[in-house]
Amino acid sequence: MNNIIISPSILSADFANLERDIKLVEENGADWIHADVMDGHFVPNISIGIPVVKSIKKIAKLPLDVHLMIDNPEKYVEKFRNAGADIITVHFEATDDVPSLIRQIRETGAKVGLSIKPKTDAKEIFKYLDHIDMLLIMTVEPGFGGQSFIHECAQKIAQVREQNTNVIVQVDGGINNVTGHICTSLGANSLVAGSYIYGAEDVAQAISSLR
Ligand code: DX5
Ligand code: ZN
Repeated sequence: MNNIIISPSILSADFANLERDIKLVEENGADWIHADVMDGHFVPNISIGIPVVKSIKKIAKLPLDVHLMIDNPEKYVEKFRNAGADIITVHFEATDDVPSLIRQIRETGAKVGLSIKPKTDAKEIFKYLDHIDMLLIMTVEPGFGGQSFIHECAQKIAQVREQNTNVIVQVDGGINNVTGHICTSLGANSLVAGSYIYGAEDVAQAISSLR
């Protein structure tokens, strides 16, 4: 598939030099900026929150792709939208009421993303595919950058593509030039990569190798 959306995860950036590291990927071929929000409850790690997203918005030129790995996402959707999120992705596992959460995000004007963890069956979310802009398939257990790609998760990409050809299928976790190609050949059209891009000596080359 053409037009792969590359969304570098700033979780692997230097937080003391966020502006520099965001410009680095913006100037070297990125399409979106992926911001990972972790609350220490939904995942066993804590990362950035609303004030940091707001500051990033002031300097970023590319759309902000905000991945909420938090419990009770419905409490924070408007706040992240007001902070500047362009795409808001929530976890299927973090809510009992997916339809109303989708509606809530939609009403803010943000693009709607829904994400599933590695152990969640793709069938669980088939019925939502026509109502969201993006499905994010996690290919590691969410919470940390730098983990290895879980190959068994990749089959979900094809399962989702069989159901829906329009939705953006994004993958996140352990993506590099090899695993990224496995995902795009199965129908993924957005790749998140943190350690692969920020760990590269040549960031432009790393980003173009994902396409
Ligand atoms: C993990 C995050 C990812 C993470 C990916 O929970 O959602 O976005 O930054 O990092 P890499 O690309 O290093 O696996
Ligand atoms: Zn992420």
